[in-house]
Amino acid sequence: MGPANLPGRQLRVGIAGLGVASSQVLPVFGQDTPYVLAGGADNRAEARKAFKDAYHRPVFATVAELCAQHDVDAVWISTPNTLHAEHAICAARNGKHVICEKPMAVNLRECDRMIAAARKHGVQFLQGHSKIYQAPIKAIREVVASGRIGRVIQISAFNSNDWLQRPRLAPELDTTLGGGLVYRQGPHLVDIVRFIGGGMIESVRGVTGRADPHFDTEGHFNALLQFEGGAAASLTFNGYGYFDASELTWDIGESGMVQSKGRRFPGKPRLTGPADIQQKRAVAMQRAPATGAEVKRRQPFFGLTVVACERGMIRQSPDGIYVYTEDGREEMVSAKGHGREFELLELRDALAQGRDVFPDGTWGKATLEVCLAIMASSKDGRARRMRHQVPAP
Ligand SMILES: NC(=O)c1ccc[n+]([C@@H]2O[C@H](COP(=O)([O-])OP(=O)(O)OC[C@H]3O[C@@H](n4cnc5c(N)ncnc54)[C@H](O)[C@@H]3O)[C@@H](O)[C@H]2O)c1
Repeated sequence: MGPANLPGRQLRVGIAGLGVASSQVLPVFGQDTPYVLAGGADNRAEARKAFKDAYHRPVFATVAELCAQHDVDAVWISTPNTLHAEHAICAARNGKHVICEKPMAVNLRECDRMIAAARKHGVQFLQGHSKIYQAPIKAIREVVASGRIGRVIQISAFNSNDWLQRPRLAPELDTTLGGGLVYRQGPHLVDIVRFIGGGMIESVRGVTGRADPHFDTEGHFNALLQFEGGAAASLTFNGYGYFDASELTWDIGESGMVQSKGRRFPGKPRLTGPADIQQKRAVAMQRAPATGAEVKRRQPFFGLTVVACERGMIRQSPDGIYVYTEDGREEMVSAKGHGREFELLELRDALAQGRDVFPDGTWGKATLEVCLAIMASSKDGRARRMRHQVPAP
């Protein structure tokens, strides 16, 4: 267990990388939450000033300085994908627990170094920003794991959004730097199906595509994942921004926000190239979930998730899940919550209880293995066997 054990007090969290992802995490910190914002780091002066003005917490120009602070227990890594390994290892060497954005890294060697650093320095590594934390996904897993309707046989996961039509920096559109739809959004669908199906993927066949001539990176993919034991999962993702899957999920989107018709893909000229950080941030802030009592939040969706078992089927309902059996349809209402607070609670609870976190680095690596296999398989049309899978608890 790490040096920053903390029964009885708040988990003190620093944020490394104060860009768009951090703007989704920062709102969950409050005075009375079991976790507290301890500081931030960004190499852009503008980002540091905005953070200081809004949160009045110490802010540093390098992640190393943040990691060296004595009053920081854990560092949330939300820097670009190519820096996750460097920054997670820096945090671990300084005795800080790590919560890392998805994808865990850009290759499996980096994952190994991150896992080894956390073990060597006795800190927890939590794979953050996973859809596993969503209450309905957990509820589906619980029904499957209970065995009540038999073994899982098929999982269908579908999403369609405007990932490639949101302003992106050039590296986010470069697959060699961990950009594109498979690296950036693949971990979400893969985590959902691995978690529900038990984690152990045996083989992967993928087809990816670059259908928007303005962007030389993946904008869509399909994949067939076969689990040990024979179950199969089919994944379909389209990120070109013509159709929002929330039309199929009672207008409820990724953050649990009920999408108004105008907010969903308003007619606008299509993007034809990378943006700068100001353009990216401006649009991200418009899209950010509003706060305030009047805002209606439901449970989060990430497209459609439909699970078939031997004696029934499961899918999400507006407030939980529907379980279909020979007795008809039953709705099980699940807890609400966007998700980012669940990562912080998981780390805090694991430390308080003296146990390891889930999902950890080995889970993040296994999910990245599947994403890399989707891209590799698409190049030569051959399936890939998986070698680094770990089971869901
Ligand atoms: N954009 C999203 O909606 C979103 C949502 C969730 C998670 N993520 C994940 O979060 C990560 C960051 O994505 P983003 O969209 O927020 O990118 P971003 O470019 O908006 O933010 C990254 C931040 O890191 C800073 N940075 C870059 N190099 C640094 C360094 N060496 N030291 C300190 N700071 C540095 C940048 O200045 C920037 O503020 C990615 O792993 C991504 O997959 C993105």
